[in-house]
Amino acid sequence: MMDQAQNLRKMISTKNNEVKHKEESVNNNNVLVYTITSGKGGVGKSNFTVNLAVEMQRRGRKVLIIDGDYGMANVNVLFGIVPKKTLHDVIYKGVPLREVVIESESGVKIISGGSGFFEMTEVSEERQNALIEGMLQLKDIDIILIDTSAGVSRNLLSFISFSQEMILVTTPEPTSLTDAYSLIKMVAKMSIKDSIKVVINKTRDQRNADAIFNRLEKAALSFLGIHLNKLGYVVEDSKVKDSVMEQTPFIELHPNCTASKNISSIVDKLLGQKYSNAEKTTMQQVVSRMMRVFR
Ligand SMILES: Nc1ncnc2c1ncn2[C@@H]1O[C@H](COP(=O)(O)OP(=O)(O)OP(=O)(O)O)[C@@H](O)[C@H]1O
Ligand SMILES: [Mg+2]
Repeated sequence: MMDQAQNLRKMISTKNNEVKHKEESVNNNNVLVYTITSGKGGVGKSNFTVNLAVEMQRRGRKVLIIDGDYGMANVNVLFGIVPKKTLHDVIYKGVPLREVVIESESGVKIISGGSGFFEMTEVSEERQNALIEGMLQLKDIDIILIDTSAGVSRNLLSFISFSQEMILVTTPEPTSLTDAYSLIKMVAKMSIKDSIKVVINKTRDQRNADAIFNRLEKAALSFLGIHLNKLGYVVEDSKVKDSVMEQTPFIELHPNCTASKNISSIVDKLLGQKYSNAEKTTMQQVVSRMMRVFR
């Protein structure tokens, strides 16, 4: 008799073959996963994630956001979309994943985690398999952005470890920086990542962002031995709040505002030559790693 793990492996390897077959026709099997994190809450992760996704999609990438946030201005609210079902329903109520995937006007796909997403554990084998199947049926995804809720949990650390890139958002506020440092410390101590990409949000200007980044980078390297990578900055811009009120991403509503230009520069960097070497994985590798989180 096969044990659960064997069963799952068998299923993944069967799917592997099926997907390979399908991918031959759609020619799309590489997925890059970014987990967007912060130490402190309310620093702008969800706004950053949504606008990054829209800009990447505009440049021809197929983007899926997994919304692990259940705060006020979460991903769906920022898109002006009301999700009827969430990943929570897939895992605990057997709802098919396709019923949970929503497509925004920009083409960005969104899966809402639902409340408690980052606390889910001991998901049954049957539900894991259903989720694997559902994820594998999502064709044409190049990039997955996981928007997390603030606060460290076992699941959050697991998500960081299985994603190829961790993006840490912080503001120049001392409390935000202290909490960012605590998260970096945890990641370094558990050897989860060798390097972390940092975005300074709600900054005055580039000079201010550079000064903040340099301080954080120095501390992380000398005390924790971990490399921080300057991904960019987004200025404090009143257009961001206007767009939240309008429930439309600022990069769509105000494409020429400073915050939009900052996001665009970050996308230049992420999609540029230097970063395109990040190890890409197939969707089935992504989902099998994701399942380890929920076990
Ligand atoms: N660059 C910016 N300029 C001005 N306001 C901003 C900027 N980025 C975010 N905000 C504002 O900060 C608030 C928090 O943003 P957001 O919800 O994206 O943060 P978060 O990190 O996702 O929060 P949580 O930890 O609760 O999930 C929002 O009201 C948003 O309008
Ligand atoms: Mg959020």
